[in-house]
Amino acid sequence: MLTGKLKNEQIKDSEKGHASTYSGRYFRESVPKYEIPENGMPSNAAYQLIHDELSIDANPALNLSSFVTTWMEPEAEKLIMENLNVNFIDSDMYPQSQIIHERCVNMIARLFNSPENCDTIGTATLGSSEAVMLAGLAHKWKWRARQIAAGKSHDRPNLVCGADVQVCWDKFARYFDVDMRIIPMEKDCYVLKTEKAAEVIDENTILVVGVLGTTFTGQSDPLKELNDLLISIKEENGWDIPLHIDGASGAFVVPFVEPELLWDFRLSQVKSINASGHKYGLVYPGIGWLLFRDRSDFPNELVFDVNYLGGTMPTFTLNFSRGSAPIIAQYYNFLRLGRKGYTEIMSNLHANTGYLTDQLMKTDNFELVGRKICIPAVTLSLKESITNYTVYDISDRLRERGWIVSAYTLPPNAQDVSVLRIVVREHFSRDMVDILLKDIQKAVSKLEIQQATPRTHRVIKRHHRHC
Ligand SMILES: Cc1ncc(COP(=O)(O)O)c(C=O)c1O
Repeated sequence: MLTGKLKNEQIKDSEKGHASTYSGRYFRESVPKYEIPENGMPSNAAYQLIHDELSIDANPALNLSSFVTTWMEPEAEKLIMENLNVNFIDSDMYPQSQIIHERCVNMIARLFNSPENCDTIGTATLGSSEAVMLAGLAHKWKWRARQIAAGKSHDRPNLVCGADVQVCWDKFARYFDVDMRIIPMEKDCYVLKTEKAAEVIDENTILVVGVLGTTFTGQSDPLKELNDLLISIKEENGWDIPLHIDGASGAFVVPFVEPELLWDFRLSQVKSINASGHKYGLVYPGIGWLLFRDRSDFPNELVFDVNYLGGTMPTFTLNFSRGSAPIIAQYYNFLRLGRKGYTEIMSNLHANTGYLTDQLMKTDNFELVGRKICIPAVTLSLKESITNYTVYDISDRLRERGWIVSAYTLPPNAQDVSVLRIVVREHFSRDMVDILLKDIQKAVSKLEIQQATPRTHRVIKRHHRHC
């Protein structure tokens, strides 16, 4: 979160410091909030102060708006604690962490069906956003090299995607000066349409993005169709345009529950894939993965070799230092769960999602938004006949019970559709689904009664929340 320094006159006297807490037990004097205090305080006092303040935040277990993991096993947490002080970049000092990283890349490459004759390479990242920046950069560099070799201009790169992409792609395009050719959504079609993509692809297209499990509806772009389109473009024009799969949410779900679905390196134009280990890879925040189909799909100029930590080490990251713990935790999950364990968990999530969906459909208030969802999430809109309250009202009501359920509008040209999205994660048991269902029903009933009372007695709240 980008945040700014407050001017002194903006800070009210009463907000300048933490007031005396627990009377004399911890500290009596106010402790400044916006400048480093002159003196410290006992560790238990600092702990209690911060712990208490944070307790106002949401309970992660009731946060149904996020895909990011909120529960891991105690043994995983133990490994994380043991490795909290390990800087992954210090490869010479912590070679075993590097070896574990290499094994993870191998395991993921095989999970994503890297062909045996391909020299697949990959790296851990801080999340899918970093992976997306790196993938975009790599394809931009490869495209530029191709243009230079052909004696063509290389000053107007573009990428082609649907309006269903996550904000990280807008960031990539703006930060790295690439024209973003976004195919708008349509009413009733919330994924990229292949024929529309075909209209805007040209020889300056550095990549096409296909999403496996979109942020907005949990659907998948038509990945096989996009691959076929790029093959035919290559045959007709000689433009070898890579398909990048953004599998932030779907890449650790689909291989286990729909192994026959063609979305990964089995499709020949799929040159790179990103996945969030901290989503359905089931690891706490701080881990993503980026894999390139083959070393030749990757520009060596973007690799930096550094030798000042001892030994020579190739790096392809936006940052330098990073913790090893999430990588170790990812390896723990792979060993602990195996393919069978992941398959059981993902199947269970889908079963809970199906149950939640069926029950919600029985209430007659909601409509499903988007078909063929490939990740465990339900996206709903209110039936057109319901005009006296909104999805935002339901989200607010649920918040009173502690549930966090996102309410937002879809991107252009489906911005008239307001939805609620419920993400199903591992800890969200069938019992909790039932409790949520009752709370949704109560919220709806109260809103119906409230809306039946004269208008002057109520305030209609309308605000948008983006995930
Ligand atoms: C499809 C998609 N891509 C990329 C991202 C960014 O992922 P991360 O939070 O791991 O940076 C998200 C996050 O929700 C996503 O849904």
